Amino acid sequence: MAKLPLYAAGLTASFTILLTAAAAQDAALLTQAQEIFQPLARDMASAESPITRERVELGRSLFFDPRLTIDGNMSCSSCHQPAFYGTDARPKSIGVQQRPHPRNAPTVLNAGALNIIHWRGDRDSLEDQVAKAATSPITSGQPDEKAVIDRLSRVTGYAPLFAAAFPREPQPAIVQNIAQAISAYERTLLTPSLFDAYLSGNQEAMPPAARAGLAKFINTGCVACHNGVGVGGGMYQKFGVVEDYWKVTGSDPIDKGRADVTKDPADLYVFRVASLRNVAMTPPYFHDGSVATLPEAVKVMARVQLGVTLSDADTRDIVALLENLTGELPANFATAPVLPSGAVAPAK
Ligand code: HEC
Ligand code: HEC
Repeated sequence: MAKLPLYAAGLTASFTILLTAAAAQDAALLTQAQEIFQPLARDMASAESPITRERVELGRSLFFDPRLTIDGNMSCSSCHQPAFYGTDARPKSIGVQQRPHPRNAPTVLNAGALNIIHWRGDRDSLEDQVAKAATSPITSGQPDEKAVIDRLSRVTGYAPLFAAAFPREPQPAIVQNIAQAISAYERTLLTPSLFDAYLSGNQEAMPPAARAGLAKFINTGCVACHNGVGVGGGMYQKFGVVEDYWKVTGSDPIDKGRADVTKDPADLYVFRVASLRNVAMTPPYFHDGSVATLPEAVKVMARVQLGVTLSDADTRDIVALLENLTGELPANFATAPVLPSGAVAPAK
């Protein structure tokens, strides 16, 4: 009879030691994570890019409005769709008049947290991105800024929105202000996730598998490149550090990456490190959409960037972490706005 309580007491004691060790490990993991990553800010306004209610409202309308493009049938939201978490779910986008885009559309969610814009960093800022998209042969088809503004002026409902968003300007309907307004809107599209709650100090916010995945993500070396507020998005790196990427992804044609932008051979196959926020919602993967599933993309990364062959179990844990980087769609993105009225001339 006396044996049982003794035995039970021993069990409880070792259990307590185990628990204490596990708790210490959990706490250490959190501290380590807080040094590598930062939670999303409340908004992404900056001095040059103030967020006002009027600019955001105007920018949201422009983002969803197909009437500005050459045939009046494609908007930013055609390729950055709410239903696909701000992507088009295609390997590579298809633009106006079926013109093929050479790369995959990344999400616009949390784009305000990126230090580098586009896969090859060929845009200076969100504003620059919009200004160039407004006359790009693929995303717009309009020959020049004047054509965009002519089209815009036919949608008479926009005039008061521009006046309200840029009150001190006599001629506010200009491409630069379209860029300011859409960027202000984009800077509100933040998706805080359970990972952010975790980083803010709540260890239980993420399930154990995701925390195991976090430890593996750190210890395997993913964080050398995927770090900061975007879990990526902050630096350039060669895609294919250990092995040529296309031999593993099957990419065809082979994109030379940033070298085509800078003409510097040191930038051959260099790309912006992808932000992994919402990555579970935005297949297919990589700059050319060459890999269909997230577990596959994680294994490709471990192999070509780090020379590591991940087991299925480790891959599952890392994927569990990445799933905890999914946040809720912002309400002002989840539904399309009612657009300003005004007819545009039919396409010739
Ligand atoms: C035809 C499809 C298409 C349309 C239309 C389109 N985009 Fe994109 N978008 C893309 C693709 C593809 C990329 C990646 C380009 C690259 O890296 O070379 C991209 C990149 C971006 C990025 C950068 C994201 C990142 O992670 O670097 C932002 C922001 C963005 N688009 C916003 C917009 C806005 C705003 C509009 C409307 C003015 C727009 N897009 C219209 C396909 C499209
Ligand atoms: C040496 C830097 C580096 C390391 C280490 C690294 N990555 Fe990446 N990662 C990148 C770059 C660069 C890209 C963009 C590749 C491209 O051009 O498509 C990327 C893209 C990704 C993508 C695809 C994102 C998308 O939206 O298409 C995933 C997923 C990913 N990495 C996960 C990981 C994981 C998991 C690890 C660790 C096993 C890891 N990465 C290690 C640099 C790195």
